[in-house]
Amino acid sequence: MRDLVAETRIGVGDLVAPLFVREDIADPQPILSLPGVVQHTRASLRDEVSKLANLGVRSVILFGIPAAKDPLGSGAYDPQGIVQLALGDLRDDLGDEIVVMADLCVDEYTDHGHCGILDAQGGVDNDATLELYSKAALAQAAAGAQVVAPSGMMDGQVAAIRSTLDASGFHDVAIMAYAAKYASALYGPFREAVDVSIAGGGNRKGYQQDWRNAREAQLEIDLDLGEGADIVMVKPALAYLDVIAEAAARVTVPVAAYHVSGEYAMIKAAAERGWIDGDAVALEHLTAIKRAGADIILTYFTCWFAETAAAGTIDI
Ligand code: PBG
Repeated sequence: MRDLVAETRIGVGDLVAPLFVREDIADPQPILSLPGVVQHTRASLRDEVSKLANLGVRSVILFGIPAAKDPLGSGAYDPQGIVQLALGDLRDDLGDEIVVMADLCVDEYTDHGHCGILDAQGGVDNDATLELYSKAALAQAAAGAQVVAPSGMMDGQVAAIRSTLDASGFHDVAIMAYAAKYASALYGPFREAVDVSIAGGGNRKGYQQDWRNAREAQLEIDLDLGEGADIVMVKPALAYLDVIAEAAARVTVPVAAYHVSGEYAMIKAAAERGWIDGDAVALEHLTAIKRAGADIILTYFTCWFAETAAAGTIDI
């Protein structure tokens, strides 16, 4: 009876798996603060994505860790950059069986860890950064990304990327905009995963959103829609369910929510101590994000969820 009248259902098809691929490693490397998540080699990434596709997962999003970082983050747009190579591998293996998204930013590739080019004062130069993002979009599209996902929160990034893609004939490559991305303390484990520390103990408050603001998030979403975003994302998820709900009520494109690394790590850590039932909390949290209105959820629990669903052991 409870199942029959349940208002919210969550399925494997709602989830996107964030995956890390690293240059110059012989074997997958564990990420201490993200138990169960690894930095993949190109080969282990291929195996993982084939496995996910067989379990019914519809999409993955790739993040790269280059062997060397530089001030411009050139690995983000080098055709031989690690993500571009991995995109090619996955499209060769799976064609259109799975949607391969590419996170589009430079912070994993810059030696200073910021999401853009620095100006003479050490601040991020918004407009100069748009040129890098356009180059990265082209490289990712040419390598086979069906969706590019700009995550740097530079003003005008969606418009710049859309016009560059269209001018090169990549009309069908969609843009999932990290539209309302907050300057959150919940990205810590991700920064370990991609080997990023922000120069001088800095932060991203100059370009990511202030978590005291909700209306501003809707403005950011509207700006991205006006620039041509096909999917808008709110990030992180649980502390921003109000923002997700408001977006879902207002916009007519799909709304994505990123259940981020810190949200995953908190569940894993408490479960490891036996303080909570990790699987039950994971399911409760993912369902809450869906209930708030997210159509798509990016989560490190995707593989677990798909395996559990396939085994028929999801217990609500
Ligand atoms: C930036 C980016 C970040 C995440 C995704 N893209 C980190 C940041 O803004 O510092 C975080 C994802 C997570 O915490 O799971 N390219």
